[in-house]
Amino acid sequence: MKAELVVQLLAIGLALVGASNAAPASRQLTLGTDTSLDPYPTKPRIVFRENGTFKITVFSDLHFGENPWDAWGPQQDVNSIALMKLVLADEAPDYVVLNGDLITGENTFRENSTSLIDEIVAPLNAVQIPFSSTHGNHDNEPNITHYDEIIREQEVAPLSYTRLAPPGVGGYGGPGNYWVYEKVTDGAPILVLWFFDSRGGFSPGANSTAMPDWVDSTVATWIQTETAAMNTAWGPAENRGALAFVHIPPHVIQPLQADLNSTRDPGLNADILGQGSTQATTDPANAGKDDDFWQTLNSEVQNLHAVISGHDHGNEWCIREPTKNVIFCFDKHSGYGGYSSTGWDHGVRNIVFSSPSPTQGLDTWIRLENGTTRARVTLDGNYMR
Ligand SMILES: *[C@@H]1O[C@H](CO)[C@@H](O)[C@H](O)[C@H]1NC(C)=O
Ligand SMILES: *[C@@H]1O[C@H](CO)[C@@H](O)[C@H](O)[C@H]1NC(C)=O
Ligand SMILES: *[C@@H]1O[C@H](CO)[C@@H](O)[C@H](O)[C@H]1NC(C)=O
Ligand SMILES: *[C@@H]1O[C@H](CO)[C@@H](O)[C@H](O)[C@H]1NC(C)=O
Ligand SMILES: *[C@@H]1O[C@H](CO)[C@@H](O)[C@H](O)[C@H]1NC(C)=O
Ligand SMILES: *[C@@H]1O[C@H](CO)[C@@H](O)[C@H](O)[C@H]1NC(C)=O
Repeated sequence: MKAELVVQLLAIGLALVGASNAAPASRQLTLGTDTSLDPYPTKPRIVFRENGTFKITVFSDLHFGENPWDAWGPQQDVNSIALMKLVLADEAPDYVVLNGDLITGENTFRENSTSLIDEIVAPLNAVQIPFSSTHGNHDNEPNITHYDEIIREQEVAPLSYTRLAPPGVGGYGGPGNYWVYEKVTDGAPILVLWFFDSRGGFSPGANSTAMPDWVDSTVATWIQTETAAMNTAWGPAENRGALAFVHIPPHVIQPLQADLNSTRDPGLNADILGQGSTQATTDPANAGKDDDFWQTLNSEVQNLHAVISGHDHGNEWCIREPTKNVIFCFDKHSGYGGYSSTGWDHGVRNIVFSSPSPTQGLDTWIRLENGTTRARVTLDGNYMR
């Protein structure tokens, strides 16, 4: 009951924003006050560098916690921590994203599953780089949930910007929907990072059953209310850039793999997308259930530079999604846990904004653990035209 009430209030908030746009004299806005749009009052402000650049490093599919009862499982985590430390020291990013499947939840025990979060955030705590996480299908299992991981991360990582969605937003097993903003100086935010929860995996407890594996349609409503509130508090949407992260790729990406051109769209392309590779494809009965999310994200969020996913460990490419004219990119599998194959290697995706201008493109590339870089592309209006 409580959750339903909140959703209704959000819907009313949206209507009021619309009304106040039509009649600027009235001040009826209930959602978009400055206070409600500063979700991090006690955390450091995230700012572009003085030279106008901003660098994000994405670790994806870390898959901690495999087979704790064997020697090889814990050794994988030792290797993943070494990779994180090396890459963080070399790349010195301004922000880090952990893009889902932090933990292989199938192998964890109820009593200590979130202690793996402590291990994962330790290298980030050590270098004091702000970061946040999305969660994947392996983070929802009988002995662990997205919710558990988010709460633990908030408890043990002072520079975690990960948040829970408001009650009623995200659907069953998908509480990790939120945004983080970056500024240049004290002005209005100029870049908004969006994080979405594509759920999947299995429900907690005994008699666990499969979870929906797409971003719930309540998130579409939430995107509308949040963007309307931002426009009111911060000014027109055209003044801000955006980037979105979601663990499982939207289903519209799947057929695009056949159009890849390895010169134009460089990067490993070794993972043929099939059932379960993209959202709402595990069960044919759910086909298209991520459409509300995809439609609304692309209609409401302006200057969306790219949508970035993990999940498919053998893919690194980017491609332009023609129906929404938006660029999609895969991450790089970072963890020694999780499935892999000869020659796939481990690494990160780097993303560099060379200017705070909301319409200027960004550079992105894959960095392997040994320092080799590949698949460098500039994501801008000319990409793939
Ligand atoms: C901006 O500054 C960072 C370090 O502070 C440096 O790594 C980067 O190369 C600089 N970029 C430009 C375009 O000057
Ligand atoms: C959790 O407990 C199990 C069983 O006692 C143990 O094998 C495992 O190493 C523990 N895992 C962590 C991350 O502490
Ligand atoms: C969940 O944890 C319990 C006890 O902590 C353990 O007995 C069970 O095997 C675990 N479940 C899975 C699927 O590993
Ligand atoms: C799980 O299912 C079994 C068999 O149907 C039932 O006996 C048990 O009570 C269930 N456990 C829970 C926690 O629902
Ligand atoms: C692949 O892309 C390159 C660079 O844009 C282009 O020159 C080439 O013709 C394309 N190949 C095919 C088969 O389309
Ligand atoms: C790093 O690894 C890649 C992939 O295995 C390999 O092609 C490259 O030669 C290596 N670079 C160095 C400097 O060892």
